[in-house]
Amino acid sequence: MLKLAVLGSGSGTNFQSLLDAVRAGRLSAKIVAVISDNADAFILERARRAGVPAFAVDAAPFKTKLDGAGEARVLEILRAQGASHVALAGFMRIVKSGLLRAYAGRIVNIHPSLLPAFPGLQAWKQALDYGAKITGCTVHFVDEGTDTGPIIIQRAVPIREDDTPETLHARIQVQEHLAYPLALQWIAEGRLRIEGRRVRGAPESGVIAD
Ligand code: GAR
Repeated sequence: MLKLAVLGSGSGTNFQSLLDAVRAGRLSAKIVAVISDNADAFILERARRAGVPAFAVDAAPFKTKLDGAGEARVLEILRAQGASHVALAGFMRIVKSGLLRAYAGRIVNIHPSLLPAFPGLQAWKQALDYGAKITGCTVHFVDEGTDTGPIIIQRAVPIREDDTPETLHARIQVQEHLAYPLALQWIAEGRLRIEGRRVRGAPESGVIAD
């Protein structure tokens, strides 16, 4: 059983999908902490309502990374809560070497595109603006790059003629909420091994969805 810490900066729908999967018995995990770099983020409120320990961490003076005192505080919380794995769920900072070393191979992220296309911010809008016809979501292990680590699962979402950034992101999120609990369950079952860039052992590698 995973002892999972979830890091997020926003509304926390992916955290909710993990919590729902745990409660439904689809994910063998206990969520031991939710940590946010934004004290007002709704993900913290969701955690409190669910009785999950919720922590706001001041990541200043950095704007785009988790480093220095903020990183040290996150590590302290992870250890105190006994976290075995870390799931980034809408966490809008780059994680740096302190956390990567402490949880090597045990940090995963969900990203709203079919990586390596459209890393970075608002990936659904990047795909729409580019004129792509298919996008989706990716769950991957985290390495020192931005959205570059070995891929566990991808789910594809067609882009419709009349899509707006909002409608497209909403359809991607439906797929995120399916993909993330599944990928973490494979990790909980000890199925996955990382060989170079490739993740082996996943019972399925991707799904064309809508
Ligand atoms: C999700 O779509 C997630 O893929 C994305 O932020 C959203 C968070 O939603 N993450 C990134 O863009 C990371 N580069 P949520 O707070 O409702 O889970």
